[in-house]
Amino acid sequence: MAQKPTLLVTRRLPDAIESRIRRDYEARFNASDRLYSREELLSLAKGADALLVTLQDQLDESLISGLPRSVQIIATLSVGFDHIDVRAAEARGIAVTNAPGVLTDATADITMLLLLGASRRATEGQALLRQGMWSDPRPTELLGWQLTGKPLGIYGMGRIGKAVAERARAFGMRIHYCSLHRLEQDAENGAVFHADARDLLAVSAFLTLHAPATSQTKHFLNAQSIALLPEGAIIVNAARGSLVDDEALIEALRKGRVAAAGLDVYEGEPHIHPAYRTLPNTFLLPHLGSATVETRTRMGMIALDNLDAHFAHRPLLTRVLA
Ligand code: DGY
Repeated sequence: MAQKPTLLVTRRLPDAIESRIRRDYEARFNASDRLYSREELLSLAKGADALLVTLQDQLDESLISGLPRSVQIIATLSVGFDHIDVRAAEARGIAVTNAPGVLTDATADITMLLLLGASRRATEGQALLRQGMWSDPRPTELLGWQLTGKPLGIYGMGRIGKAVAERARAFGMRIHYCSLHRLEQDAENGAVFHADARDLLAVSAFLTLHAPATSQTKHFLNAQSIALLPEGAIIVNAARGSLVDDEALIEALRKGRVAAAGLDVYEGEPHIHPAYRTLPNTFLLPHLGSATVETRTRMGMIALDNLDAHFAHRPLLTRVLA
């Protein structure tokens, strides 16, 4: 029987994935489930044919150039691949794959949770109850902002943006979007396209970000772009933290220029700007976009399908290119 390829798996994964890995690979698991340092990762990769990594593993140019020659392929358990220098990997002849498609619904669902949590002041409501302060319910207590009939601006109309639009329509929202490409009329389903992001911002009483992290989208939301939003806009980010200039958003949240923000992702996560934690008008989650048993399992299966294809000399299913 041919020797199984050696696979370094940087974090614990759902049981079904680990069982499949155990069956088909010479597995190097991370029993402690602790994030490896660069040195640990490089050392553990010695002699490995493949790496199965997650968003938290920063595979920048210097790490990739330090990888042993044995490594042929890197599969990431994420759709985003901004944590991997794909160009550097290509230069070393290492293929990189991601896990698109399967996390669309889970991430669109969490976007709705963020929209509702922020607009219905869930953080303040929870605090009232948890601190035992809900003693005299008043008709004017914690009034939030209704989604019905309101415009929702979607920045980035890929799979997840479209799934959010579908859900938001069910809440009676009017969809506006800005994306690199305009959708076909059928797919637009009444959504208003804005070629210029500034026009999108101007109508977005609610704004949700669904663009990838690139040098073009870095700090898309900053003091200037926030100034274009309607007064008291509500902002949601389930894409990447780097799309938001934290200082600018925090300042706007403090002043009420932005009424509330629902955030699942943060620049520099898991270290988040401390002000987010103290502001009552933030509704915060710890990057749970794809965190369901079903979705994480499917993501792992795609990663393994790619690795299997590579070692069977078949075309990769979801290779990413620089
Ligand atoms: C991804 O896979 O890029 C998502 O951010 C995970 O939640």
